[in-house]
This record gives sequence, C-alpha cells and structure tokens, in this order.
Amino acid sequence: MRDHRPPAPGRDRYLPHTLTLIGAAGLSRDEILAALHALQDYAPELITRKEAEDGEEDHIRMLLAESRRPGAELTRDDVASFVVAMLIAGYKTNMQHTGNALLTLLTHPDQLHRLRERPAGIPTAVDELLRHVPLMNATNILVAEEDFTLHGQRIRAGDAVVPVPASANRDPKAFTDLARTPNPHLAFGHGPHACTGAHLTRMQLAVVIQVLLEELPGIELAEPAESLPWDETTPLRAPARLPVRW
Ligand code: HEM
Repeated sequence: MRDHRPPAPGRDRYLPHTLTLIGAAGLSRDEILAALHALQDYAPELITRKEAEDGEEDHIRMLLAESRRPGAELTRDDVASFVVAMLIAGYKTNMQHTGNALLTLLTHPDQLHRLRERPAGIPTAVDELLRHVPLMNATNILVAEEDFTLHGQRIRAGDAVVPVPASANRDPKAFTDLARTPNPHLAFGHGPHACTGAHLTRMQLAVVIQVLLEELPGIELAEPAESLPWDETTPLRAPARLPVRW
C-alpha cells in the first residue's frame, strides 16, 4: 500500500537521529550524544517556526501557549524536551507494533475472520494484541525510594528495578479470559511515566486494522511466518518486513 501524503516537513532533519536513538545498541557514547544534540538543536527551531507561522492548533502550540501563561510551571525548555521525547518515542514504536499486530492476525486467520464479522471488537483486539505481543521487554529503570517487599522479594532503597511488562502481561493469575475489557495489561508501563503515546497508539492500530479489513479482504502473508526476518536494529521486537498479498 502506498503512502500518498508528502513527508512531514523537517523529516530529513530529525528522522536519522530518531532512528539512531531508538536503536542505540552498539553505538558509542559520542554517536548517541551527537544524535541527541542534533534533536535538541532541531526542537527549539521547530518551536520558533511554529510560533512565527499561523497554523492549526496542535500539541506544540497548545503547550507553548501554556508556557507563556503568567505563573505557568511549564517552561519553553520543557516544551523543547517534550518535542525531543516524542520524536524518539513516537515513530518506530507504532510502526513496528503495527507489523507485530498484523503478523499476529495473519497467522491467526480465525481471529481475523472474527474481527471481519464483528468490527466493533477491534478496540478490544487492539489491547489484547498490545498485551499478547511484547514490543519491548522492559520499561525505564526505576530506583526504589524506600525498602519494601514485593511477592517475597526484598527491595532496598536505592536498588534499581527493571519492570518487565512482557512477563507481567503473561501472568496467568491476571489474564484468564480472552474477551477482557478493560484489559489490565502493562504494555505502556505504569505510573507517572507511563507511555504518553498510549491513546495515539490505540487509535492508530484500530484504524490500521479497520482499513485493512475493509480494503483488503483477501490479505494473507506472502511468505511463511517462520522465514520472516526480525528487525535487529532496535531493542524493539518486530518483523523487519511483512510481505503480504491480496
Ligand atoms: C506500541 C507502541 C508503544 C508501546 C508498546 C510503548 C510503550 C512504552 C513504555 C513501556 C514506556 C515506558 C513506561 C514506563 O517506564 O513506565 C513508554 C514511554 C514513553 N512513550 Fe511509549 N510506547 C508506544 C508508542 C509510543 C508513541 C506512539 C509515543 C508518542 C507519540 C510514545 C511516547 C512515549 C513517551 C514520551 C514516553 C516517556 C514517558 C515518560 O518518561 O514520562 N510511545 N512507552
């Protein structure tokens, strides 16, 4: 399927660095810092341009308006940090998880058929796909502020803890039936630093699945699932390509 939209303005400026940072494994500290600094230079430029141009209300303009409000806690630097975080976290994650979701549906034709018969079930399926197929193993590293015991494991203040939602999402005590709503999965993490893009991700996945079911009724994998290469360029888990026919 071809994308007929023009590429986002500035794409050449940020995309190579975004891809470097999301796949940082194997790079030197200097390479990682150079990519980060490039995005940190780009973000204030983007903000300044948004301020200068009259344009549609968007998240950046909304946050900038808030940062100009007398007494606001949000600063212009915070808005720039938000842009950098979004550029890193908001691109390959959804792209790759779309591949995961489609691969899962195409290798479970009975489930695909059920969704085609009852598209109202797509939002529930989206959350189940987020739970069932781990895009990433771990979330941000947390540091314990006080001593506590969790499921018999003693954790002391100052200990680093790496939550593994991929494992929690397969907890047989929590996930017992398939048609669960709400779905208490932890694919987006938990707490104040849980994924900012969760709503966007849910919406995008639902739209992709719906359009695919409507436009390509005969879609199927063009190569056996077992032979598909996995993307080794990022710590995210997803097929590197997904050849299909219809
Ligand atoms: C399938 C897609 C995605 C998954 C599975 C995912 C998952 C996660 C996870 C597990 C975290 C860490 C949460 C924690 O440490 O507790 C996170 C953080 C974050 N995500 Fe996502 N994400 C996805 C897509 C996106 C998108 C599309 C955006 C932006 C549009 C985004 C923006 C962010 C940001 C900014 C953070 C850092 C939040 C913070 O530290 O306060 N993510 N995401």
